[in-house]
Amino acid sequence: MARIFFIGGTGHIGGAVLHKTVERNANALVTVLVRDAGKAQRLVSKYPQVKPVIGDLESFAVIEAASREADIVINAAPDITHDKAIESAINGLTGRSTKGYYIHTSGASILWDEPNGSKEARTWDDVDDIADVLALDLDKTHSVTDNLVRNAAADVNVAIISPGFVGGMSPSIEHPTPITTPGFILTSRAFKAGFQIAQGENQHAWIHVEDIADMYMLLVEKALAADQNCWGKEAYYFGVGEVIPFSDLMQRLAPVLHKHGVIESAKVQSVDTNDAAKASMYGANYSEESVPPAADSWAMHIAIMYGVNMRLRATRMTKLGWKPQKGPIVETFDEVFGSFLRSEREAADKGKA
Ligand SMILES: NC(=O)c1ccc[n+]([C@@H]2O[C@H](COP(=O)([O-])OP(=O)(O)OC[C@H]3O[C@@H](n4cnc5c(N)ncnc54)[C@H](OP(=O)(O)O)[C@@H]3O)[C@@H](O)[C@H]2O)c1
Repeated sequence: MARIFFIGGTGHIGGAVLHKTVERNANALVTVLVRDAGKAQRLVSKYPQVKPVIGDLESFAVIEAASREADIVINAAPDITHDKAIESAINGLTGRSTKGYYIHTSGASILWDEPNGSKEARTWDDVDDIADVLALDLDKTHSVTDNLVRNAAADVNVAIISPGFVGGMSPSIEHPTPITTPGFILTSRAFKAGFQIAQGENQHAWIHVEDIADMYMLLVEKALAADQNCWGKEAYYFGVGEVIPFSDLMQRLAPVLHKHGVIESAKVQSVDTNDAAKASMYGANYSEESVPPAADSWAMHIAIMYGVNMRLRATRMTKLGWKPQKGPIVETFDEVFGSFLRSEREAADKGKA
């Protein structure tokens, strides 16, 4: 019987992977790290066969013990600053009589370029460009944790999935909508319109959450079949289903935000990164005179995200037989933003009651 331990199994990505894992492996013993008893209870009501383990990314002994009991660990929780949680999972998997499997979630923000809305940029292929990916400076986001994972390759079968932006509705019990959703709403609310950096010619890699979940599932199948060919230091898989210019994305998003009452007009205005950062910091209280947020703030990170290129090709996963099944991500916007805004209203109503 397969034993699979999830870290981040309640997340937008992790929840979709967990759902498919349970659906396709009825006999697997699935354990999920959850932060509190309420989440554990909600998880078990949806998936009675799943065993929750209470803890967080600081619960190193809990993570190590649960990993030791598993054949496969899937980590879809945040990686940055959580080195010790990753080490704990790897330590748990190390020293078995047969090599265990660790599937890690990184992120392609490691390749972001200058946030100026320009289309002049490199396309990164996870096979052709793997030497350059492995040589990326340690000051790049995700580099340190990616290397931590790769350095365990002698003892554990490791693979890294590195998503572009993940969209679409997830069956996650806690995070059904994508993490980028509140940022788009906050920034648009501030501008009262759609927005793009300069002409919005920069291009973003996107993938539907169901399609990225299929990537994890393919690796799980390979692990269960003891297939040794898709693991190791070079087992770095970009998660991308399509690459879209930001202006095309916003042409489809602005009418959706207008329809749902977020913005007064569906027109799209060109802004610069500083304005986008102020908008992302102050939301509806934004004014052009607002003080810009700090360079290392979340608001600045979001604003930079709007203007960068992240052009990826998922050659390595395609070679394993993976193919995206879902349509264009822009077609998910109505459902995703409608759902997020409904929850936002419900939370506000509860707060008033
Ligand atoms: N989504 C994207 O577009 C994207 C793109 C590139 C990379 N990534 C990477 O993928 C990760 C997951 O993305 P996501 O969209 O699935 O995020 P998400 O919906 O926010 O899910 C994060 C998951 O990690 C758990 N978690 C977060 N902090 C934790 C802590 N301190 N202790 C224990 N569990 C913790 C959450 O648990 P709770 O349910 O308790 O909150 C949840 O299960 C991101 O953090 C990022 O590193 C995502």
